[in-house]
This record gives sequence, C-alpha cells and structure tokens, in this order.
Amino acid sequence: MIADQLTLESLQSFAADQRATFERELKTLVEIPSVSADPARKGDVRRCAEAAVSLFERHGGKAEILETEGNPLIHGWFGEDASQRTITVYNHMDVQPANEPEWVADPFTFVIDGDTYKGRGSTDDKGPAVTAFFGALAAKKAGVPLNIHFLWELEEEIGSPSFEGGLMRHKDRLKTDAIVVSDTVWITRGKPSTPAGLRGLQGFRLTLETADHDLHSGVVGGAARNPLSELITLVGKMLDGNTGQVLLPGFYDEVIPPSAEELEGWKNSGFTTEQFMKDHMLKGIRVQEPIEVLKRVWGQPTMEVHGVVGGYTGPGIKSAVAPRAEVKVSCRLVPAMDSHKVLARVKAFVKQHAPDVEVHEEHGLAAFKGHVTGQYAEAIRAAYKFAFNAPCTFTREGGSIGAVKTMEDVLGCEVYFLGLSLPSHGYHAPNENYDWEQASGGMVAFAHYFETVSRFK
Ligand code: BES
Ligand code: MN
Ligand code: MN
Repeated sequence: MIADQLTLESLQSFAADQRATFERELKTLVEIPSVSADPARKGDVRRCAEAAVSLFERHGGKAEILETEGNPLIHGWFGEDASQRTITVYNHMDVQPANEPEWVADPFTFVIDGDTYKGRGSTDDKGPAVTAFFGALAAKKAGVPLNIHFLWELEEEIGSPSFEGGLMRHKDRLKTDAIVVSDTVWITRGKPSTPAGLRGLQGFRLTLETADHDLHSGVVGGAARNPLSELITLVGKMLDGNTGQVLLPGFYDEVIPPSAEELEGWKNSGFTTEQFMKDHMLKGIRVQEPIEVLKRVWGQPTMEVHGVVGGYTGPGIKSAVAPRAEVKVSCRLVPAMDSHKVLARVKAFVKQHAPDVEVHEEHGLAAFKGHVTGQYAEAIRAAYKFAFNAPCTFTREGGSIGAVKTMEDVLGCEVYFLGLSLPSHGYHAPNENYDWEQASGGMVAFAHYFETVSRFK
C-alpha cells in the first residue's frame, strides 16, 4: 500500500506543491548568519537553533535544543514508535564567514533567481538539510513506518570541537539504527556520487619572532634575521609548492593507495578535468589526466599553505625587516593516517631545522573510511537512481566532516551519505548557491530512501 503511494510522480508533485514553503523555510535559515568561526555571531548561532526547532514544530515534528560545551545541537524528529526502525539525518546549520569581496549581493539575504538560490549556507549545508526535512515530510505523509530523526550541528565549520562531548552527554536519546549525512558534493550536475571515504585534517601554525619592531632593511638588513624569509624557507623544506609533493620525512608512510576496484570506479565516474576546472573556475591545474586529478583530491594527503601573516601589506613596498611572522598550514589526511603522527613529524622536523620556530597545533580530524556494501548502501544507490535517473558511483571526498567518525564511535552505528551539493554551488566561495533541481530531486531521493529503509528486515 505504501509502495503505491511513493511513486515518482506522487513524490514529484509533493515537491512541486511544497516549493514555496521550502523556499520560505530555507530563506529563514539562510538569513540567520550562523557563522561559527565568529565569536560576535554567538547570538545568531543560538537564534538559528531556535529557528530550527520552530521549523520542526510548524510541520508536525518535535525538536529540542541539546546543550554542549560549545554551540548547541538540534535534535528534531518525526515518530517515536519503538517497534519501528530509526534513521537519523545529520546536517550542519553553521556556515563559513562571508567576507569575500566577490559577493555580488548581501550573503545573508536569500536571493531566488529562477531555479537558483543564493546566499551563504544555501548549499553548505542549510539547503540539503531543509531538503532532507521535506523528504521526511513526504515519507510521513505517505505513512512510511519509520522514526525519522535529525541531528543538526552548529560547529561543523570549525572542526566540531564540542560534538563528541555533546554526543556523549545526549547519547541515550540519539540512539539510532543508521545515520545518513547530507553534506557532500556530486561529481557534477547529473552525476551523483556518494563517498566511501572522507579526508581528515590537521592544521597548525608556525610562528617566529626575531626582533621587537619593524627595522630599516638598509640599516640592519644582511645581518638581522628575517622571520618571513625563514618561515618561507622552512615551509619550502616541508613541501614542494609547485608539485604539491610533501617532503616532510615519513609523511606518506601510512597511506594506503586506492584499490584497483576503487580506481576502476573513479575512472567510470564521469569525472572530467575540463568540467572540474569549469565548476571551480580554475585558471590552471597541476595535472591533466582525470584519474591523476582524482587520486590527488580523493586518495592522497596534502599540505597546503593558507596564509602568511607579517610584514607590510599596503600599497607599494615598505623596505622594512619585519620582527615577527606566521604561516598557517593544514594537511588533509587519508584513511590510515593519524593526525597525531603527522603533527609529531612536523614538530620533530621544525625542531631540527628551525629550533626557535614555534608550532601551534589546531584541532585535528581523523580521516574516514566508509561502507560501500550492504542494505543501507544499496538504499542510497537506489534512491539516487529513482530520483535523478542516474547511476551513483562510490567515490571519495576530499573534504572533511568531523562529526562522521565521532557518530560511528559514540552512537555505534554506521554512517552513509546522501549528498546533494554540486561543485558549481561553490562551497565556502563567494556567491554560494543551491538550486531547485537538487532540492526537488533530493526530496524525492530522501523519501525513497526512508521508504526503502522502513522495509528492511
Ligand atoms: N561540507 C563540507 C565537507 C566537504 C567538503 C564534503 C568538500 C565534500 C567535499 C564541510 O562543511 C566542510 O567544509 N568541512 C571543513 C571542515 C574544517 C573546517 C574543519 C573542511 O573540509 O575544510
Ligand atoms: Mn558542509
Ligand atoms: Mn563547509
């Protein structure tokens, strides 16, 4: 009986009927600047949690704010029938800062431009969150016998520092059979993919102080140390900036190269270098072969320099020797690498080559190796096929989601991914956007997924 109701046609018409409501709800959330990195936005982060709770209440669900040491979690749900299976959908409601000069409109004003939705958080990750929410509404309306829960985080974009503690504290009420995360990107439009792995992350900052204030480079230059050049030289010993090859001894020791089977999947994923460059508006790239690009983004660890602080940055040149400098660096890690080991290697190297440089460690995230077989994985594949009429490949993801491994460890269940964002939506970029094709298809995919899972033996 349920199967009769959840036809493609009925779900598509549900989505079409709900479009204006979906847009209104997404607008409310996007217009709250829940920037977790900015302490001045604490009030907005709290307001976002409250808005999320009222979203559930408006649509016949229940929700509560769960406190943690840091920003709260939102737990929302439809259904509390102990005889039914429980699925939890994870998304994050915090967003990246939006001060890039290239924004053509206010990042926290939700703009509807035909089928495109613009604003910070529209695709990362409020749009997919609200999409999954409407997928649940569709499933509930059709009477799908499943407890559908939602766990929305407000610290994902700063590495989930309070998530583990929060989960431990509220573990009992968050008991679930499986988790589905909607916070990843497809290969490109029309080519769904779901990750069988995520990269981890370990950030660190290098600082050096060699004087008290700016000095005339004609007066002291040649004899005085220069902290900017020293840090640049040090980084150059750890990393070949042209090829991306990490020179730090032992860095690649634990890396497990992708299996032949995985590589085969990547080759058939429909990825092209041309589309990749177009989606991200890249002007140049280190390698051209598609499989080489994918190996680098999905299968290999990296070291990136994100920022150099110090010296004069105004117009023209000030020929001073700066007294202090900082370099901001992070490494993306692949499964089997250990963030602590990476940090230990960096520290040992710095100690040997530049003993008075200080290494400041940032929060680390473990890499994640996912599941590609079994009924939950099959249900993801089936949902994409049903909703988007396209096969879904198991790929990997170059990005990191701190909560994923923590949820598996603390809640003791498996995590799967039903992502809806596209590379061209511009994660973290100015003019971030989302669109109705992904949203409406996503609602259908989620509803189908919930229905499939409700039938599991
Ligand atoms: N949604 C992304 C994770 C992601 C990125 C998935 C790229 C797939 C492809 C998430 O919101 C994110 O940006 N994570 C950060 C975490 C960091 C700030 C601790 C990341 O990967 O840099
Ligand atoms: Mn995200
Ligand atoms: Mn993000």
